[in-house]
Amino acid sequence: MGDIPLVIAIDGPAASGKGTLAKRLAAHYGLPHLDTGLLYRAVALTVLDAGYSIDDHAAAARAAATLIADRLADPRLRDRAMGEAASRVSSVPAVRAALLAWQQRFAGNATGAVLDGRDIGTVVCPHARVKLFITAAPEERARRRHLELQRRGESTSLGAILDDIVARDARDAQRSTAPLKAAADAVLLDTTELDADAAFAAARAVVDGARPH
Ligand code: DC
Repeated sequence: MGDIPLVIAIDGPAASGKGTLAKRLAAHYGLPHLDTGLLYRAVALTVLDAGYSIDDHAAAARAAATLIADRLADPRLRDRAMGEAASRVSSVPAVRAALLAWQQRFAGNATGAVLDGRDIGTVVCPHARVKLFITAAPEERARRRHLELQRRGESTSLGAILDDIVARDARDAQRSTAPLKAAADAVLLDTTELDADAAFAAARAVVDGARPH
């Protein structure tokens, strides 16, 4: 692959498996990985911790403009409620603008990087060498998220998780700034019938077949 940085953009809806896949690809190709959903989750947590309403756009914009990396390690970011709160702040254009610079700095790393999110192939890294769009049926995504939350000791019904996922997909796809959508040149990977190993193998085949440009 020579000296040209390898940027891998991975997008997809909530609980599609893109995070697991991104982590494995980053380890395999020796690249740094950024879960961009964590940035939106950290903005939401900052707003709530400071006592503001999650719909206070000015507070969200300030939190995004002053976001510090330390915040990304807070275990509360993975809570179910924080996904919903993140989705709400992510529709604020000033929040997206502040986080865009953050993400592009990360993607500008000399060897390349793996970023996963909703708008990486379309907005953050439109020139990424590899773009993957990961999907899976909502029921399968709900089942996976349910297992993950159970392992973390959060007990939530499968039905409630499916409702969350459907609502979050709709909000993320319908917002006017940088909605969830596959880039025209993204490779679609439906993981409904694939386990993590099979998804990883399929993604690796795409990366290995991609030429520098
Ligand atoms: O991937 P996740 O579930 O951690 O993301 C949480 C929310 O953050 C998601 O519902 C929408 C928002 N998000 C976004 O708008 N753009 C991204 N690149 C990543 C996440």
